[in-house]
Amino acid sequence: MKFFIDSANLDEIRSAAEMGIVCGVTTNPSLIAKEGRDYVQTLKEICEIVDGPISGEVSPFSTTAEEMVKEGREIAAMHPNMVVKIPMTAEGLKAIRVLNSKGIKTNCTLIFSANQALLAARAGASYVSPFLGRLDDISQPGIDLIQTISQIFTNYPEIHCEIIAASVRNPIHITDCALAGADIATVPYKALVQCLRHPLTEEGLRKFENDYAAVFGRPNA
Ligand code: E4P
Repeated sequence: MKFFIDSANLDEIRSAAEMGIVCGVTTNPSLIAKEGRDYVQTLKEICEIVDGPISGEVSPFSTTAEEMVKEGREIAAMHPNMVVKIPMTAEGLKAIRVLNSKGIKTNCTLIFSANQALLAARAGASYVSPFLGRLDDISQPGIDLIQTISQIFTNYPEIHCEIIAASVRNPIHITDCALAGADIATVPYKALVQCLRHPLTEEGLRKFENDYAAVFGRPNA
């Protein structure tokens, strides 16, 4: 399973990229609004930091296929790595079909059922984004959805659509997504940092330091 970072914050994206753990970025209107910066400029700056697929979502006010296709073409023109994020609606599927026919990659978002994922893949989406955490929030095990989509896509090898597990909230989600067969997990910076830490690693570092210092002293002491 590969990692994308789910963020529009340049400092977070730069830090995760420097650690070498992310190979793509996903954004959405809420994440862009949280930063309060210009949409196009933010996406262009993200493309300078991470050399991989960068999802930029169409405006929440673009509701017809025509509007989404027009905006999708503008997003795709920003940089060769841009992926157009399109919501799972009938108009969204129409837009995905048109954009795919023009060689533009799409990420179908707000997926909450296996059938929605299958429809998006058949319409020509390059990625589907099932939302794990938001299902958990309403007491439906989100991980079951990731597992089911993964099984269905495996049953039909002609489907090349990748599964981006989205709405990932914690380290347990990440392990579960990898076990369930997600191709990618898009993870907020906080959860990435939670994954790299372990109390025994911290304790081990302190012990090495103290044992070494007891014999050789501390640098510049
Ligand atoms: C990413 O593609 C999604 O928009 C994002 O993961 C949603 O996460 P949330 O449910 O925590 O808002």
